[in-house]
Amino acid sequence: MSEINKAAVIGTGTMGPGMGAVLERGGIEVTLFDVSEEALEKARQGVEIARGILERLGGDRTEGGSISFETDMDAALKGADIVLEAVPEKLEIKKEVFAKFEQVVADDAILTSNTSGIPITKIAEDLKHPGRVVGMHWSNPPALIPMIEVIPGDQTSEAAIEATKALIDRVGYHTSQLKKEVPGFVENRVLYAIMRECLALVDEGVVGAEELDLNVKWGIGYKLSVIPPMQLLDVAGLDIYESVASYLNSDISTESGVSETITKLTAEGKLGLKTGGGLFEYTDEELAELPGKRAAALIAVRKTLDSQDV
Ligand SMILES: NC(=O)c1ccc[n+]([C@@H]2O[C@H](COP(=O)([O-])OP(=O)(O)OC[C@H]3O[C@@H](n4cnc5c(N)ncnc54)[C@H](O)[C@@H]3O)[C@@H](O)[C@H]2O)c1
Repeated sequence: MSEINKAAVIGTGTMGPGMGAVLERGGIEVTLFDVSEEALEKARQGVEIARGILERLGGDRTEGGSISFETDMDAALKGADIVLEAVPEKLEIKKEVFAKFEQVVADDAILTSNTSGIPITKIAEDLKHPGRVVGMHWSNPPALIPMIEVIPGDQTSEAAIEATKALIDRVGYHTSQLKKEVPGFVENRVLYAIMRECLALVDEGVVGAEELDLNVKWGIGYKLSVIPPMQLLDVAGLDIYESVASYLNSDISTESGVSETITKLTAEGKLGLKTGGGLFEYTDEELAELPGKRAAALIAVRKTLDSQDV
């Protein structure tokens, strides 16, 4: 595998534009593909927002990066050293586009999927060169969250993994490499374990939604960004964890269904910010201001964490 200089990002919805902007800042020539001019118009706006975030974060910039936009997939893929797939989370669509990638790119180009949970082995199973297919799972929003999960399928080669990790390193992001694939990978498994317990506590009337958020934000949330779980165990003392876990683990939610609060609100069409309300209600002003305010706070937190040697 030669050095990665050209990338094709296939699918420019929520994730693609930010992924493209991060690669561009790392000196990569990026082509963003989507199925329509209308989708690309939105992608252009997404790229501008992501570029602005990267500028405010103030990390290194490598010369030579660029972004172009394409509705012709062959043209987008031509000459790509790596393909980043970010199409909808449906196996049929993923398989269809990966089959297309194989027809156009060089035999040694790396093919990655941003899937949130579809097995990489399944995406790669009908391909001629499944060894070069790697899970490269970015976190949303990709311009702000500097961690990417790298997931091997059963047939993924070491060389493909190493090339993907080298690219992540080059753009200044952190690789979290999994040894094998499991549903939801690591990030979403941990997040969903937290969500399940939080919702169970609200459903059982132990705590209100606002109080729950206050507790998590100023308790474990703030702390975990400096002292993550495995390190926290050493801080707490493994003997203390052992004795608390021995009675508490059996009381924590093992619910395999979905929280009744969520199923009820979903049925009522209360889906969160995108419908103006979900677990909380939002005024039009709040809806307009919240994303910017939260991005500013995340930028400030990330800068602080980057500057600390812990
Ligand atoms: N949204 C998130 O928070 C998030 C986070 C991490 C990973 N992911 C994963 O990233 C992938 C993309 O997610 P998203 O939220 O950006 O999706 P999205 O629905 O916002 O965007 C998908 C884009 O793909 C385009 N598309 C549809 N069919 C296509 C095809 N055949 N060829 C090329 N493009 C096509 C659509 O026009 C759309 O612009 C999914 O696998 C998702 O699970 C999403």
